[in-house]
Amino acid sequence: MKHGTQDLALFGGTPAFVEDRRVGRPNQGDRRRFLDRMNQALDNEWLSNMGPLMHEFEDRVAELAGVRHCVSLCNATVALQMLIGDEATGGAPGDEVIVPALTFPATAHAVGWRGLRPVVCDVDPVTGLIDPEQVETLITPRTRAIIGVHVWGQACDVGRLEKIAESNGLRLYFDAAPALGCTHNDTPIGGFGNAEVFSFHATKIVNSFEGGAIVTDDDALAERMRAVRNFGFGPDGRVGHIGTNAKLNEVAAAMGLTSLDALADTMIHNRANYELYRAELAGIPGVRPVEYASQHRNNHHYMMITVDEAAAGLHRDLLLGVLRAERILAQPYFPQGMHQLQPYAEDPGRSLPHAEELCGQLLALPTGPAVGADDIKTISDAIRVAVANGPEVTSLHRARTAADVDE
Ligand SMILES: Cc1ncc(COP(=O)(O)O)c(C=O)c1O
Repeated sequence: MKHGTQDLALFGGTPAFVEDRRVGRPNQGDRRRFLDRMNQALDNEWLSNMGPLMHEFEDRVAELAGVRHCVSLCNATVALQMLIGDEATGGAPGDEVIVPALTFPATAHAVGWRGLRPVVCDVDPVTGLIDPEQVETLITPRTRAIIGVHVWGQACDVGRLEKIAESNGLRLYFDAAPALGCTHNDTPIGGFGNAEVFSFHATKIVNSFEGGAIVTDDDALAERMRAVRNFGFGPDGRVGHIGTNAKLNEVAAAMGLTSLDALADTMIHNRANYELYRAELAGIPGVRPVEYASQHRNNHHYMMITVDEAAAGLHRDLLLGVLRAERILAQPYFPQGMHQLQPYAEDPGRSLPHAEELCGQLLALPTGPAVGADDIKTISDAIRVAVANGPEVTSLHRARTAADVDE
């Protein structure tokens, strides 16, 4: 328990934790089950090329997402690239794809990598989700597609985006990298738009070391994506598409299945963590957990807060410094809008105020099965003490930074 500024590790106090508390610790599931699956793959001598574990993983993800097809892939970035390069997107170099400002760079890179231009759209100031109204104003004759991102597992306004895409003849894809297990109302995320993309990166709620998937109800699209991931080979063994090598191998599928086994329990634990954080952080001025609309289910894989400097008395980055000194490895997530990334900052004067404000305020706190109630109380306590002494923390930090510069 910390009482004042002098107890904060940033100013010489003892760190709150002996070991780091990290964001995005891998959810590995039952190690023995993983090793059994690995032994199965080794015994079968089937390590890659659409093996039985990969098929089992795809079937289970498709069922969870409520779709006919899951095409598993080596990661979500390549999944997005494959959709942008698909013949139904029909993009030529310089054509445009609308993407939200608040996302991981992979969303914009997938567009840029295929030679198309990401056109960056501002987001809702509260949810951080792509703003459908602004999407409409960004459509030009060169627009080919819209990518919505279900940031922190919140469902985009899928109904409005589907209407906009349909009435303008555009493809609609969803980057659902963080959203496995989430719903829009009672419908699982996975079946919206023309296709959705999940990530199974090590830091995601279900991990396959590296991995991703395209999920869709479109039979023809799924068949093309299955061919493209495997050098363009179609079911008849002939190359009918420009392909790549984007297969999910059996080691990855074994981890994906094992991590998936644990998903239901992980979500229960995450939800309890979220509720406890909300209770612990309640009443701390300027610190607000991101709230999720109750009609949709969230997987609570991310514990997001915003820090309003004016009310908290210290900036998000300084709170981050305080927490890191305590060995609480919070993350500013996402720190930059896509329009601020060097490759896409075509118009340096262009401002997307909602995304920019959120990028300066958001912080992801540690959660997940490895984080328990005592951890959350300790983390919240550090935040409470930092904010209660916000002006002093800020001036002490400034004085120290100035002294460092003078030396
Ligand atoms: C929104 C979003 N899209 C795409 C990706 C990329 O996923 P992958 O690492 O599987 O390529 C991520 C990864 O963090 C993400 O958060």
